[in-house]
Amino acid sequence: MKNKFYVTTPIYYPNDVPHVGHAYTTIAADILTRWHKIKGDDVFFLTGTDEHGKKIENAAKKNGKKPKEFVDMLVPKFKEAWKKLNIEYDRFIRTTDKDHEKIVSEVLKKVYEKGDIYKGEYSGLYCVGCEAYYTEKDLIDGCCPIHKTKTEVIKEESYFFKLSKYQKKLLDFYKKNPEFISPPYRKQEVINRVKEGLNDLSISRASFSWGIPLPFDKKHVCYVWMDALFNYYSATQMKGKEKFWPADVHLVGKDIIWFHTVYWPAFLLSAGIELPKKVFAHGWWTFDKEKISKSQGKVINIDELVKIAGVDSARYFLFRAIPFGEDGDFSEETLIARHNNELANKLGNLVSRVTTLAEKYGIEKTENKLLKRLRLKEIEKHIDKYEFDKALNEIFAFIDVCNEYVQSQKIWETKNKKQLYELVDSIKSIAILLWPFIPETSEKIAKNIGFEIKLENIEKLLVVKKIKKSEILFKKI
Ligand code: MSP
Repeated sequence: MKNKFYVTTPIYYPNDVPHVGHAYTTIAADILTRWHKIKGDDVFFLTGTDEHGKKIENAAKKNGKKPKEFVDMLVPKFKEAWKKLNIEYDRFIRTTDKDHEKIVSEVLKKVYEKGDIYKGEYSGLYCVGCEAYYTEKDLIDGCCPIHKTKTEVIKEESYFFKLSKYQKKLLDFYKKNPEFISPPYRKQEVINRVKEGLNDLSISRASFSWGIPLPFDKKHVCYVWMDALFNYYSATQMKGKEKFWPADVHLVGKDIIWFHTVYWPAFLLSAGIELPKKVFAHGWWTFDKEKISKSQGKVINIDELVKIAGVDSARYFLFRAIPFGEDGDFSEETLIARHNNELANKLGNLVSRVTTLAEKYGIEKTENKLLKRLRLKEIEKHIDKYEFDKALNEIFAFIDVCNEYVQSQKIWETKNKKQLYELVDSIKSIAILLWPFIPETSEKIAKNIGFEIKLENIEKLLVVKKIKKSEILFKKI
């Protein structure tokens, strides 16, 4: 039987067009999806938009639109962006989708009937940018630590979720599932905060109406994070998709790790639903050391990103430049340098030289001894541990091996058909392994040489007899 693999991105607020920060998580999910596809797994990749709440309501108002009208206008921008980046998701969920709203309503009812929701009064601070509650001690100079804007003071009737009841259960769960919060260096901070104690969570608002009504009190709408988190589950509650729950990994930015590793498992425990296997939090991209964000004005949108050096170079740069998990500073110059020095000079040159020689002198099937120098097991381990930069390093180390082989054997003089076969067969393996990262280029190579992009084909010798010279894969900038 095939293994299943279910990966999610956060669902993005469609209050503006997507930027490189959103692209980062979405490409990471695409890399994992493609990786599992070449392994032959049954994959489900979910992304989408988080459309309810005060933040969207405010943005719509500012644009003179009704919330639904406003999000309907922005959602296509996300879909277009993902298309431009060659993202192959299976479902784009919107929290305004009827099936999702129905699941949220059912879950709320269940949790309420269980006695985990009670009515009270919320009095405290709220950041609309984060859609999150804060206490005085969280603030920096009286402002939200993330958006650096003043928080709102709220005092209103609200329903509360008994989060405090789940403190011990959560701590036990983290202990039994040491990889649930990843990377490991992000784990302790969450655990320490949970140990300090958990306050019950206000999960409804009655002062605005853009949300899912509570089934037991229609004057209130559900807190946007409770609504949003359930997207991961509701997307699997349709025919043929149930088998994908629980999620194998939720990819998230480090700013929303708390929602995913505390609120989310607590809601699921209360609703009696199985918990996801892993939450992996990545770092932030900055631009001139400032967080790239819509609210703070430093933005690189998807068109700008792709325009620098093309889709594959953008995808490659984001995952080669920094370890997935850590922060990085975005720089157009480094992207171009990597495009020129690594993609054009190393990969592009290898493919161009080898296919030109192979076209001219022909190839002859033989055992591929070069392939022994490909550290396949290491590459697999790195990808399975989300160490994409290390996986790429290994693949490029093998590209170096192949380039050196051409050079040291002086193949243009010896015209050795067997060695040319080894090189073409090695390019096949390189293209297969690079497909998750730079699909467009890999597909060009596969089409040109003639093989199917599957992991098992690395170990099967290439059967083609004639090679055509490849087009130029990366033009230097
Ligand atoms: N709607 C919520 C998520 C709900 S998931 C149930 C949300 N949306 S968001 O649009 O504000 O952000 C989505 C993701 O983008 C977060 O994971 C955030 O970390 C990520 N990024 C936003 N800016 C970023 C960078 N500059 N760099 C990397 N990722 C960043 O939060």
